[in-house]
Amino acid sequence: MTNSFPDKEPLLRVDGLSVDYGLKGDPLRAIDGVSFELRTGEAVALVGESGSGKTTTAMAIAGLLSPNARVSGGQVHYRGQRLPIDDDAAMRPHRWSETSVVFQGAMNALNPVHRITKQIAEPCILKLGMTRGEATARAIELLELVGIPADRGVAYPHELSGGMRQRVMIAMALACRPSIIVGDEPTTALDVITQAQILKLLRDLRSQLNLALILITHDLSVVAESCDRVMIMYSGRVVEDGTVAEIFAEPKHPYTKLLIASIPNPANGKKMIRPIPGDPPNLVNRPSGCAFHPRCPSTMSVCTTEVPRLGRFGHGRVACHLHPPLQENMVTVHA
Ligand SMILES: Nc1ncnc2c1ncn2[C@@H]1O[C@H](COP(=O)(O)OP(=O)(O)OP(=O)(O)O)[C@@H](O)[C@H]1O
Ligand code: SF4
Ligand SMILES: [Mg+2]
Repeated sequence: MTNSFPDKEPLLRVDGLSVDYGLKGDPLRAIDGVSFELRTGEAVALVGESGSGKTTTAMAIAGLLSPNARVSGGQVHYRGQRLPIDDDAAMRPHRWSETSVVFQGAMNALNPVHRITKQIAEPCILKLGMTRGEATARAIELLELVGIPADRGVAYPHELSGGMRQRVMIAMALACRPSIIVGDEPTTALDVITQAQILKLLRDLRSQLNLALILITHDLSVVAESCDRVMIMYSGRVVEDGTVAEIFAEPKHPYTKLLIASIPNPANGKKMIRPIPGDPPNLVNRPSGCAFHPRCPSTMSVCTTEVPRLGRFGHGRVACHLHPPLQENMVTVHA
């Protein structure tokens, strides 16, 4: 399948997306005014520490937010059409068909009592209206596409290795012919060699099917080979994005700089991840101004009172008072 959406229109446009958890009392704002665009066939990495809002962003786009979540602001457009992301029932036809998700830990996501062909065939019956026979044929086709021989289709999940199970998850994610695949830490539970194989599979499928990819990871070191762009999140907000080359060569945001500095580099004797000093912020009581100010080595007084605006900087965007955007280049204003 090849998408033929005109290049000038983004495949996905996310504007000021905010999501709260907790329906009673004080809601927790997990993401706060997230904006970005994704083009057909493009791969964007979503990077940030635990709790920065990566999964929430992806789940909102895919229509898979948990029942205690509420979209409290913003819009998502897919192929120019507004998605009803705040309406669970209206979102049902879009789910898994446009954006689908490969989660980490396939063993938890697969049904242990069904053979894998049956599990892949199920969404083809439910979402594409195929007969059982058609869906089984499609499941076998998908298994072969992800590198699993057709005769393994009779296996149960526990009979497969972790890497094979993750391939099954990818096959399931492709079942309804989406244009966007989200990989939410898809290789976290795997050994290094299997990790590389799964990332290569995602790259191959991307070019073969012209898929857009949102790759969620804590780990910047897996990004360079698999993605075109990187979006850095901190405390539910986008703080910087740009091409992989720009972000690695010349990061602007102090948090991005520390993230890059934390990557182990055996070439210069740095074998261990160097953690960023301080703790990620408590979202119930987000720090005033720039949420990174308590940990930032460059904090200025304005940082404690004013939220930096996310503005264009070169080919990317940055939200930091060290790099104030030109008025006409502002793209997002956080309240
Ligand atoms: N179902 C939920 N109910 C309540 N709070 C939630 C829920 N899911 C996430 N959160 C909170 O929302 C915030 C953002 O979580 P999210 O899972 O989006 O972060 P993440 O960047 O994906 O983190 P990780 O790297 O650990 O997966 C966190 O404070 C988290 O505790
Ligand atoms: S706005 Fe201030 S505190 Fe935030 S990253 Fe920039 S310099 Fe650091
Ligand atoms: Mg997550």
